[in-house]
Amino acid sequence: MEKPDPPVRHLLDIDSLAERDIESIIERTLDLADGAPPEQLDFTTANLFFEPSTRTRVSFELAASRLGMRVINIELERSSATKGESLEDTVATLAAMGVDCLVARHPETGRLHEMVNHPQPPVRLLNAGDGQGEHPSQALLDAATLVAGGIDWPAATIAIVGDVRHSRVARSDIKLFARLGAGCLRIAGPGEMLPDRLDNDRVEVCSTLEAAVRNADVIMMLRVQRERMDRAGWPDPDQYHHHWGLTEAHLGMARPGCHVMHPGPINRGMEIDAAVADGPRSLILEQVRMGVYARMAIFEWMLA
Ligand code: CP
Repeated sequence: MEKPDPPVRHLLDIDSLAERDIESIIERTLDLADGAPPEQLDFTTANLFFEPSTRTRVSFELAASRLGMRVINIELERSSATKGESLEDTVATLAAMGVDCLVARHPETGRLHEMVNHPQPPVRLLNAGDGQGEHPSQALLDAATLVAGGIDWPAATIAIVGDVRHSRVARSDIKLFARLGAGCLRIAGPGEMLPDRLDNDRVEVCSTLEAAVRNADVIMMLRVQRERMDRAGWPDPDQYHHHWGLTEAHLGMARPGCHVMHPGPINRGMEIDAAVADGPRSLILEQVRMGVYARMAIFEWMLA
């Protein structure tokens, strides 16, 4: 009897990953970063970004190239989406041409989840950020960066600070760090930038930046996402920096050896001082570097 085809794997959110998937992607990310030879994958991937991106789009492209995959970058403004073609029809069209994977970023939360059962033959969908939903590959690369940095999950206090409400990175990070056993997860930011409800009852809300960073092992700063707010001109960058900008003085309140992270893009002088972003505690460029390996590991998990 013929074996049935294995189910098609997508990467849409953290909840749909099994423990063994998370473990194997992080482990493989670290192996690849240590120089393990990559698989060679005879597949085609397409990038379709309805919102701007530097890190995610380029690192998915680099990851695919290092795995020997063919990469297509769809220029949205020159695509038939501008003529009214639906996302469903665009994906079905790409599938009919033999595209195996679609890395997509969309401003609507949950829009990519709606696509899972749509295109035939199936295209593997990789969520590169959906509105205020999730950004699972960023969470996986953040976790791998922390593992490489020697994190002891049960003992770790992790503070996520800034515009948590609009951050899909924060949402995925909180879910993933909790599943990896983080001892203490804190969030902090102006009231308008905190979520209405917390999906995880282990998350502590701190009312000041100082309270959030006290004895923290990891401080993850977030960008203010003005594009998702309807209050023009708010917040004032100087005011914001005064209350919520991470400075070297704050690092003195954290644990010695504390790591500073930021998914990027950063706004120097607003949520983080340049001296901190470029300082010895910063893992920001290490996150970017690890992002390529994490995305290679994700393609291998999905296709190999
Ligand atoms: N972290 C992140 O998603 O960055 P980009 O918007 O540059 O892809």
